Parts: sequence; C-alpha cells; structure tokens
Amino acid sequence: MISERITFSLPEQSTPEMNQPQLYSLMTLKNLLFLLLLILVFGMLFPSCYFDKEDTLYPFQKCDTTHITYSQTIVPILSANCYVCHITGNPTSPVVLDSYTNVLIYVTNGKLIPAIDHTGPFQMPKGGSMLEVCAIEKIKRWVTNGAPNN
Ligand code: HEC
Repeated sequence: MISERITFSLPEQSTPEMNQPQLYSLMTLKNLLFLLLLILVFGMLFPSCYFDKEDTLYPFQKCDTTHITYSQTIVPILSANCYVCHITGNPTSPVVLDSYTNVLIYVTNGKLIPAIDHTGPFQMPKGGSMLEVCAIEKIKRWVTNGAPNN
C-alpha cells in the first residue's frame, strides 16, 4: 500500500491534471524525504558524540581511593617521586620521608599536603612536575583516614 503510494506520487514534476489530494501527498512526501536527508546529513556531520569515552572526558573520576594503605599505596608514590631527595642520609634535604614515622611528622605538622598540592611554601616534587591528581587524592585520603600504618 505504501510503496504503491510512493511510486504513484514521485513523478519528476507535478502535472496540472493532478487533483488537490495527490498534490498534497506529493508535497508531504517530499518534505518527509527532505527531513530524512537532513537527519542523515547531520548524523554524518556529528558522529563523534557517539564515540566519546567517559575515561577520556573525565580521566580523574576513576581514581579509586577505597583501599588505601601506607605500604601498598603511599610508599610506592613516595619512593617513585620523593625518595630521590627525601631519603635518610641525602644532603639535598633534611626532610626524610622513607619511613612511616618520618612521613607522619609531616602529616602531623600539616606540611605534607600543602607541599604536594602546591598550596604551601614548598612545591613538591621540587623542580619536577606535580604528582598525578589521583596520587594526590590518594595521599589526601590516607591522611583524612588518620594516616594509618598499614
Ligand atoms: C629534587 C629534590 C626533591 C624532590 C624530588 C622532592 N623534594 Fe621535597 N623538598 C626538597 C627540598 C630541597 C626541600 C626544602 C626544604 C628542606 O629541605 O628543608 C623540600 C621540602 C619538602 C617538605 C617540607 C615542606 C615544608 O613546608 O617545610 C615536604 C613535606 C616535602 N618536601 C615533601 C616532598 C614530597 C611528598 C615529595 C614527592 C612527591 C618531594 N618532597 C619531592 C627537595 C625535593
């Protein structure tokens, strides 16, 4: 029924002998086709929205701060980024961060977090780029958890 109507209503030009309802259905069909074409073209112009990945758009939302421990979370961050200067016997700095007791000193005196989130007088790692946002979040969480020695 529908295909019949399409073949009947798609002459190249509307002929004068066409009656009103025929003309009307031809126009609406053309409008409909035009609309479909428009949708198709727009769909082809902006396909990128479909492929946006949450990970790419919000890379920091996936930071898992649920299982933070001193040994498994904090030590790897400090050893990779801070031990080079803050290890026992290093003359670069009297600040020592290579044991729980020593790190706790800078947690307790409130100097650790300002140093890593760059809100204090010293910006760590000194001379290097800031720690990853997720690493900072993890250290902050560990501190707000009470800096347990676990
Ligand atoms: C390139 C060497 C270097 C690196 C790497 C480094 N620091 Fe430092 N840090 C210093 C120096 C130098 C000071 C100056 C203060 C001092 O030595 O007395 C300092 C000071 C500090 C202080 C004391 C801040 C204050 O307010 O007194 C803390 C806390 C600290 N660093 C933490 C860190 C942490 C955490 C990291 C790793 C994310 C780190 N540092 C990486 C050299 C470094």
